Amino acid sequence: MNTIVVKNYDEMAKKGAEILYQDISSNPKITLGLATGGTQIGVYTHLRKLHENTPLDLKDITTFNLDEYIGLAPESDNSYHFYMNKYFFQPMGISKKQTYLPNGLAEDIAEECKRYEKLIVEHGGIDIQVLGVGSNGHIGFNEPKTSFHCRTHEVNLAESTIQANARYFDSIEDVPKKAISMGIETIMEAKKIILFASGSKKAKAIYQLLRTDEIDADWPVTILKTHPNVTIVVDEAAYNSDD
Ligand code: F6R
Repeated sequence: MNTIVVKNYDEMAKKGAEILYQDISSNPKITLGLATGGTQIGVYTHLRKLHENTPLDLKDITTFNLDEYIGLAPESDNSYHFYMNKYFFQPMGISKKQTYLPNGLAEDIAEECKRYEKLIVEHGGIDIQVLGVGSNGHIGFNEPKTSFHCRTHEVNLAESTIQANARYFDSIEDVPKKAISMGIETIMEAKKIILFASGSKKAKAIYQLLRTDEIDADWPVTILKTHPNVTIVVDEAAYNSDD
């Protein structure tokens, strides 16, 4: 694993944007796996600035998002469809037909998960998967104790995830309890993975990833130790743990 420790959130976001900019410039037909969440907002914002300065050719890229809440319409401002349009697709000028997210309103969720997996395969797999990490170690919405062998699936969100995400909703009751998430096996098939983490809330998960030898289903992020091409961009608060 290639670990880059930077001073703070803004440095993490800049560094992350530079790496993604470079990767996209060297492969205009790239398939990106994308994440949402507070961690990625700065990365996408800096990427947009780089793109405004020296435009990337984005007409042939494809994107697949990690996850979407079950029960939220794409227009709902808490959906990940909405987030991606706001922070990435619209500012970067990426057309809708190049982008894929799980459909959280699908009548048959199991079928939707199969359809999503098939789409990824049809596009030749994911070249670079962007990840954040939950304070409980989740990647995508693969919560602690999820099988390392799962593919895109329906998940019950952990109580700690519901609480962490409540900041975006009017009340905690409004936070969906279920989501569709790429599985850990799906994520691990990406050719390259880049994980971003910022802040002391992520320090335990980063400790489990970088300072233990264990691969532990209680900390899904630890599976990244077995991937051949992982870059971690982490700020000091997430890197320095008291444990
Ligand atoms: C989001 C996702 C999640 C987040 C994680 C961290 O698409 O898959 O794993 O990356 O929950 O979220 P933030 O960045 O809000 O702390």
